[in-house]
Amino acid sequence: MKEKFLEVLRTTKQNVFVLAAENGEQRHAMTVSSVFSLSLDPMSMAVSVNQSAGIHDLLKVNSKFSLNLLTSEQVNIAEICSGSEEGQIRFNHPDWNLTEVPFLENAQSNLFCTCKKTVPLYSHSLIIGEVDNLYHSGKINPLIYQDGKYEK
Ligand SMILES: Cc1cc2nc3c(=O)[nH]c(=O)nc-3n(C[C@H](O)[C@H](O)[C@H](O)COP(=O)(O)O)c2cc1C
Repeated sequence: MKEKFLEVLRTTKQNVFVLAAENGEQRHAMTVSSVFSLSLDPMSMAVSVNQSAGIHDLLKVNSKFSLNLLTSEQVNIAEICSGSEEGQIRFNHPDWNLTEVPFLENAQSNLFCTCKKTVPLYSHSLIIGEVDNLYHSGKINPLIYQDGKYEK
């Protein structure tokens, strides 16, 4: 049944984000698609993060993170942040702004969040954050992942 479950998930069209965080000593970024808006009042987002991911332990209550919704022109960043590059090399891309919480300047939208709750369950943790600030470019051209590949 697990095969069928994966098949069902592969049929869905997923928006692709890069999740980024830093704590003054370490900085991490990873590609994520298990992302949803949790509530409007307050504005909040949830993202499911594998407990084995490099960024996982940075995402504690009160930590800051950014969710960067990629455009269809940013396949390369999605690939870099999902394993084609590791660790700090992921931040060599020129689109990164590293002044405070790392974020991607040419993303379709950036959501800046403060982590309010973490819910570890099974292999993942649900990371829930309140949106403190956001930037929307006005573009409607999100990067989509379906059936194991990016739509271009
Ligand atoms: C399109 C796509 C979506 C992904 N979504 C998630 C996700 O929502 N949560 C997650 O934990 N990993 C997700 N991953 C896997 C991570 O991006 C990948 O394992 C990454 O290398 C983890 O970072 P690390 O190597 O620093 O641990 C996704 C990968 C891809 C290609």
